[in-house]
Amino acid sequence: MKEIKKIACIGAGYVGGPTMSVIAQKNPHIQVTVVDLNQERIDDWNTTDLSQLPIYEPGLDDVVKEARGRNLFFSTDVEGAIDEADMIFISVNTPTKTYGKGKGQAADLKYIELCARQIAKVAKGDKIVVEKSTLPVRTAAALKSILDDTGNGVNFDILSNPEFLAEGTAVADLHHPDRVLIGGENEEAIQSLVQIYEAWVPRERILTTNLWSSELSKLVANAFLAQRVSSINAISELCEATGANVDEVSRAIGHDSRIGPKFLKASVGFGGSCFQKDILNLVYIARSYNLTAVADYWEQVIILNDHQKLRFAERIIQTMYNTVNGKKIAFLGWAFKKDTNDTRESAAIYVADHLLDEEAQLVVYDPKVTAEQIYRDLDYLKTRSSADNRRLVTVVNDPYEALIDAHAVAVLTEWDEFRKYDWMEIKQMMKKPSFVFDGRKLLDAKLLRQLNFEYYAIGE
Ligand code: UDX
Ligand code: UDX
Repeated sequence: MKEIKKIACIGAGYVGGPTMSVIAQKNPHIQVTVVDLNQERIDDWNTTDLSQLPIYEPGLDDVVKEARGRNLFFSTDVEGAIDEADMIFISVNTPTKTYGKGKGQAADLKYIELCARQIAKVAKGDKIVVEKSTLPVRTAAALKSILDDTGNGVNFDILSNPEFLAEGTAVADLHHPDRVLIGGENEEAIQSLVQIYEAWVPRERILTTNLWSSELSKLVANAFLAQRVSSINAISELCEATGANVDEVSRAIGHDSRIGPKFLKASVGFGGSCFQKDILNLVYIARSYNLTAVADYWEQVIILNDHQKLRFAERIIQTMYNTVNGKKIAFLGWAFKKDTNDTRESAAIYVADHLLDEEAQLVVYDPKVTAEQIYRDLDYLKTRSSADNRRLVTVVNDPYEALIDAHAVAVLTEWDEFRKYDWMEIKQMMKKPSFVFDGRKLLDAKLLRQLNFEYYAIGE
């Protein structure tokens, strides 16, 4: 078996950065170099002020502090890193296609292909190439063919090693994974990667499969998780109609050990870079094999999620006497979930967009998301001019600035700090009647009602 001395990872994003940091932390004898085309991103990874890393993840600063400069390096010298490495992880982004065949559904593999061509060009010795990015099933075949046909006659072994970490808990998930999945054809190459993970993961949690099972399992895991959220969100609407309480229903069904308690929290809708993208991908693949019933089944998970976001915005409008024009609505939270600064596909973006169509005045506070990011997210939708987005949306660094004189509060992200606010004082600051729309069922409903808020939560 080949002993790995040097690793390169292409892509210093949410997945590549934290994953490689932990691999380096746990394998001090392996040199790990993370490369990225984006100079600014690399500079941020190299920052001396660890609170300024490009990605906010609890505990990541300690891991980087331990390994960086010892055996963990961040660089823009992609070719140099490929040349030296025995094993190369590909962790570049694979966005949904915005053009051509499969537009809006299929994964755009252009960056993956660019990586493959670059590896093929540079490699002068045998390499193990590991797919870390989530990819459609059978991408490995395309990868292999590019590497073999354009390479310098060296041998490439392809492994699939999907990442299951969730944002906000990345470091804990990496330190204690439920499982590590490695798919491949060559047993020796598989063992080389197993050995790296064995440095801290119990062997029985390292699962090995064939390539295609591994690629597919990643899409399926995300599809199942998202499906649970859409399932409970569908029930949340039924609860609102019938007088049941969705948290009580979740608790009741979650006690069934066959169902289990996790991922049953009703919300304003799931977001994040993976769920929607991976399901669209699954749907696209199923359709490409003419499996219409399978495709329609999974597509419904997305349809319900879009419905949930729209429904929340509609509820706000209807409750506020069918007009929000010129009314100040305080948005608490913008990130797609707590403990991350990531906003990709966040429900907040779509709820905001709908309220802005009605000329609401939004004042947004999120503990970790910057104003630039919030405007970028809204501008990206191209619903209105960026001047209009700036006219209608204000971003503040102090939550109380958002709440003063607000007609309503909408909770979009479940940040812990929102619960700890002085809601009695907030009641004094807001316009009357004071509406609270809790998209996360986060706040203390009893207390807020006692304080005479008009309190509405998803699923009750
Ligand atoms: C990405 C994919 O989106 C996801 O499907 C996969 O599971 C893991 O990798 P993420 O790490 O969150 O997720 O993406 P992102 O934060 O956008 O990072 C990708 C990085 O790759 C960016 O920093 C980008 O600059 C870099 N990149 C992209 C390259 O270095 N070279 C390229 O050719 C393309
Ligand atoms: C997900 C998967 O969990 C992870 O394994 C995979 O590697 C990447 O995709 P992530 O997107 O970081 O991770 O976050 P996750 O915690 O799964 O939450 C996704 C979305 O679902 C969030 O918007 C969250 O708020 C929402 N959610 C989650 C709910 O609305 N209710 C729940 O019960 C759980």
